[in-house]
Amino acid sequence: MKLNTQTYPFVRRLPLLGANLGAASVFLGSAASAGQILSIGDMSSSYNRNIWWMSIAVIVMAIVIFIGVSYALFYTVNKFREDKHTAEPDQFHGNNRLEQLLIGVPVIIVTIITILAARTMAIVNPTPTDALHVNVTGAQFWWAFEYPGSPLQGTTGTVTNGNELVIPAGRQIAITVTAKDVIHAFWAPNLGGQRDAIPGSKKTFQIDTDRPGVYQGNCSLLCGASHANMRFKVVALPKAQYDTFIAAAQSYKAPAPTTASERNGYNIFMQGKASAGAAPCSSCHRVQGTPAAGAVGPDMSFFGSRNTLGAGIWEGKEREAHIQPWIKHCAAVKPGCEMPPYLSLSAQDLGDLEAYILSLKLPDAAAYWGKVPVR
Ligand code: CUA
Repeated sequence: MKLNTQTYPFVRRLPLLGANLGAASVFLGSAASAGQILSIGDMSSSYNRNIWWMSIAVIVMAIVIFIGVSYALFYTVNKFREDKHTAEPDQFHGNNRLEQLLIGVPVIIVTIITILAARTMAIVNPTPTDALHVNVTGAQFWWAFEYPGSPLQGTTGTVTNGNELVIPAGRQIAITVTAKDVIHAFWAPNLGGQRDAIPGSKKTFQIDTDRPGVYQGNCSLLCGASHANMRFKVVALPKAQYDTFIAAAQSYKAPAPTTASERNGYNIFMQGKASAGAAPCSSCHRVQGTPAAGAVGPDMSFFGSRNTLGAGIWEGKEREAHIQPWIKHCAAVKPGCEMPPYLSLSAQDLGDLEAYILSLKLPDAAAYWGKVPVR
């Protein structure tokens, strides 16, 4: 199995303390595609900006305290040093003023940090009334993104997508996160904080970015054999492009198969093949506008417009090279993959299935890849 294992520079756009302050950055080895930089110091996100400035205040206080305590320590040791060890040490009760100071100053410091933290939480935690809502479900080992249709969202029907989250730039996105099986955690560092995805629990928090682009996300809690292969992309589009996407996704009906190959692929997808010995694709996957309405695996409605496979393991050309091995024996290319193997499908059938799922495309105007830079 070939994974992206390049390493990347891991700090960007830090407004203070130079561009290489490791403390404020995150580095997730082999977690991003080529050229992508994961950083909680990405100042395009208002969430990250708020956390960043609070961190700076606390770090500055910590530096001042460190210097002050170090100075006091060396001063005291030096001043009261007894070289000859012959005299009895001075016997004294203590120093009331010093003790009051040693209690008073930490209380003031902790109070200031508490106020800063409470203020930042009050800014980043409440969900704005005009936020765009997306329901996120983590499962072994992939992500479902669901856009509930409602007048508030400016949409009318539910859209779902697997492993690729499309959002408008410049707007708060209220993520309501849960999980299907075990505890996962949703984290796109450039867009905001992380939250655990817990079965039976729903938590809402916000992510955002001012800057259109493709961002990397990861499951950030050990959840099983393919925890490291449970990635996702966030595609932040300019508002007009996002509106085009969501409108097209709302009214999307999968195109009918046009070639003999696609037709055979369609039939296998919908009805399966007796010789394959496992359920048809449609029993687990949804394709909007067809009888396929499964919800066990990722939505395949516009798989042909996606750029990733296997929850972000492969992208672009590598993705295409892995589609057939994936269908044939998913667990052989991704540890712990729950899709059953289809070992008896012929090369012809696999090719036809690939042709069919690649034909499932949004209209060009609504396609979201290639329109914004990879960040
Ligand atoms: Cu899902 Cu780690």
